[in-house]
Amino acid sequence: MNNNTVNFNKNWKFLLGDQKNAQNINFNDRTWKNIDLPHDWVISQPFNRGPLEGWTHQNMQGFFAWEGLCWYRKFFTLENIKNKEIFIYFGCAYRNSEIFINGKKAGGRANGYISFEINITDFVKEGENLIAVKLDNGCEAPDRWYSGSGLFRNVFLKIAPLTHIKRWGVFIKTELIDKKNAVVSINTTIINNDNSEKLVVKCALIGKDGICIVENIIDIDLKNQKETLVEQKFQIKNPLLWSADDPNLYKAVIQIKCNGEVIDEHEENFGIRKIEIAYNKGMTVNGEKIKLKGVCLHHDCGITGAAHYDEVWKRRLLILKSIGCNAIRTSHNPPSQDFLNLCDEIGFYVIDECFDKWKSGYYESHFNDDSQRDLTDFILRDRNHPSIFMWSVGNEVENQGQDSMLEIQKMLVEIVRKLDSRPVTCALSPHANPRSLVWSPESELVKLTKKITRDVDVIGLNYHEPLYQAYTQGIEKPIIGTECYEYYSSVSTNFEDVCDKNPWQFVLENENVIGQFIWTGIDYLGEASWPSKGWAGAILDICGFLKPNAYFRKSIWTDEPFIYLAFNDQSKKNDFTRGRWSFPPMTSHLNHENFNRRNVTAVSFTNCEEAELWINGKKRGRRKRGDFKNGIIEWDIEYTYGNIEVKGFIKDKEVCSHILKTADTPKKIKLIPDLTNLKSFEVTHIEVNVTDKNDILCKTEDFLIEFSLSGDALFLGACSSDLTQNLGFSLPKVVTNEGKALAMIKAGESGNIELCAYSEKLEKAKLRFKIK
Ligand code: GAL
Repeated sequence: MNNNTVNFNKNWKFLLGDQKNAQNINFNDRTWKNIDLPHDWVISQPFNRGPLEGWTHQNMQGFFAWEGLCWYRKFFTLENIKNKEIFIYFGCAYRNSEIFINGKKAGGRANGYISFEINITDFVKEGENLIAVKLDNGCEAPDRWYSGSGLFRNVFLKIAPLTHIKRWGVFIKTELIDKKNAVVSINTTIINNDNSEKLVVKCALIGKDGICIVENIIDIDLKNQKETLVEQKFQIKNPLLWSADDPNLYKAVIQIKCNGEVIDEHEENFGIRKIEIAYNKGMTVNGEKIKLKGVCLHHDCGITGAAHYDEVWKRRLLILKSIGCNAIRTSHNPPSQDFLNLCDEIGFYVIDECFDKWKSGYYESHFNDDSQRDLTDFILRDRNHPSIFMWSVGNEVENQGQDSMLEIQKMLVEIVRKLDSRPVTCALSPHANPRSLVWSPESELVKLTKKITRDVDVIGLNYHEPLYQAYTQGIEKPIIGTECYEYYSSVSTNFEDVCDKNPWQFVLENENVIGQFIWTGIDYLGEASWPSKGWAGAILDICGFLKPNAYFRKSIWTDEPFIYLAFNDQSKKNDFTRGRWSFPPMTSHLNHENFNRRNVTAVSFTNCEEAELWINGKKRGRRKRGDFKNGIIEWDIEYTYGNIEVKGFIKDKEVCSHILKTADTPKKIKLIPDLTNLKSFEVTHIEVNVTDKNDILCKTEDFLIEFSLSGDALFLGACSSDLTQNLGFSLPKVVTNEGKALAMIKAGESGNIELCAYSEKLEKAKLRFKIK
C-alpha cells in the first residue's frame, strides 16, 4: 500500500449494455445504476439453461446469463496536480477492458484477472474528471468455470510526485542463514521524472508488535537517471519465522525524502522463512518436514459471485484451516492480492497459478500477444508474499509432451526465473487425449513425463496417483499432486477408473511426494450440470459449511481429537457432481423417515484410535480405526429415532464424542451473525438455521425464508448448499437445505441495522447490528 494512494471503489455508475459515446463527459448517465465496487454484474442475472445437449458455455458459466458488454463511469476531482503523476490501479477488470479518461482512451487489458496500472497523467486536468470503463465479456469463449464480469476487485487512484516508487517496485528477499540469523534485502525501484538528483531513502522494518526493529537511511544520487534500483540490507537476529502454523509477518516501510520532506511512502508485509523442496527428501519449512494438505480453489465467493470481499475469504480460509488444510492452489488464474494477503496472515502454503490452458478457450486469442506481459506482471505483483512457495504456469495444457507445448512451457518458465527464485511447476495430465499418450505402458508414460517436466522444478500431477512411484524412479524430481479426487484414486494408468484407496495414502507412502491438492476445497459456481449452477463436489459447500466428508478430511489431516457420526445415504439429493470427484453420499441426522427401523451403515470419522457407538443409551461396542479402510469406521445398525452417540478413545480414555438427536417439528429460525458490531462498510455473514423448540437443527424439510433489512445497509444476497435451486443469489430470499442457509449484508456508513427473517411455518427471527 502506498500513502499517495486512495481507494477508488465508491460512487460509480453502471450500465449493463452498450451506449454510444458513454466515454464522453457530457454523456447523460442519470438512468444508470449507482453502485460501489467490488461489483460483479453476472451474479444477479437470471439463469439461462441454453441448449439441452452437450457441454456448452452455459454449463461452464453455471447457467448465468454471462455474456455482455457493460460500462462503468465515475466523476472524480483532482486538486494541485501540477508536477504530479496520476495512476489508476485495477485489481482486475473482467474483461477486454477499455479505460477512458475524459473521453479519451488511456489503456485497457484483455486478461480479466490480471492487476494493472494505467498512467493517466496526460489525460487528466485540475478539477473534475471522468473515468469510463468499458468491458466486453461476450466476444470470446468464457472460462471453464464461473468467471463473473465487472470491476470485481479493488480499484485505487494514486497521485504521486514525479519522483516516486514504481508500481510493484519493492522486491523483498529474505534469507535464513540459520535459525537465529536472517538477512532481509529490500530492493526499491524509484522512477525519476523530475530530474531529481539527491534523495534519501529510508527503510524501516516493523515487527509484529508494531515496533521498528531496525532502519536504514541512505542518500542516493539519481544522476538524472529515469529509473534507479536501491538495495537496503538488514541482518535480523532471532527472527520470528513465518510458517503456515505460525504465520509471523514483518512490515517494511519505505520512504523517499526530498529536501527533508517525505514525498512517497510504501508499506509491504513480508515473512522470513526457508522452504526447501528436494528429490526424495520432500519439503521442509524452516528445517521442519511437512506435507502439503492442500485444496484447489476457484476465485468466486459464492453469494457475491466474483466480487471479492475479504470477509468472505477470511471466513472460508479459517474454516479450511480448522480441518487441517495448510495449502492452496489458486486454480487456474491470478487471484486477488487481498486473497494472498489473507493467506500470508492466516498461514497457507500457496501455489500461485497464472494460467489454465494456453492456446484454447478463454485465453486462446490473447496468448501470443499477452502471455509474457501478463505472467511478468503476475510475478511482480505477487513475489513478496511469504505464503507463495511455488509458481504454476498452466493447467492441463494442450499437447503435453509435444514440441509446441515444450517450447511454450520453456518460455514461460524462463520468464518466472528471471524475476524470482521460487520453484515452478505446471499441473499436468500427461494421459488424456489429445494431449499425449493414452493407455501407454508405464515406461512410455515415464519417458514422456520426463520430457514434459524437463523445464519445471517439481512434477505437478493431476490425479494418477499410482504413477507416483514410477515417476519417482524414472525422473529425479519431487512430485506434487496438483489435483486429486477427494476420496477415490485412479487405477493404474487409467485416471478415469477409480478405486477407494484414498489419495492421501499415496502422499504418506511416498517420500518424494510433497503433498496433495484436493479438487476442490469449496463448492464453486460454474462447470455445472443442469439443474446445478456449480460444482458441488468439494469439502465445504458454497456457504462454507462443513459437509460430512469435511470430517473425513479432518480425520486424516488433524491431530486434535474429534469424532463425527454420519450415515451412508444413497437417497441424498443429487448434487450433479461427476462421480469420481465426489464423496460417497452421507447425511448426519436422526430424522430419516426412510431409514427408520432399517439396517443402515453408520460411519464415524475420527483421528482417535477407537470409537464406541451408543444407541439410545445402549453400548454397541468399540471398533479400532486401524481395522478399517481409510480409517473410516463403519457399523451396520438398525436406525432408530432418539439419540445415537459415538465416543472417541485414545489409549483407552474417552476424549471426544458426537451425539445425534432426533429433532422435533421445525419451529424457529436462528440467525447467527459473524459480527453484530460492524465497522462502516463492513460485510458480515449470517448463518440461518431452522431448528425445533430445543434448538436441534431440522435437516429434512426445506423452507423458503424471506428477509427484510432496515437501516443503512445493503443485502448482498443469500444461498444454501443446494446449487440446483433456481432462486437468484442476490435476492432477499433463500430456500434452506439440510436446515441451513447463509445470508450476507454490507453495512453502510453508520447507525443501526435490523434484519428480519420470515417463513410461513416458522417463528420469525430478528437481528440487530450497530455500525460504529
Ligand atoms: C480437472 C481440471 C479442473 C476441473 C476438474 C473437474 O481435470 O484441471 O479445472 O475441471 O478437472 O472437472
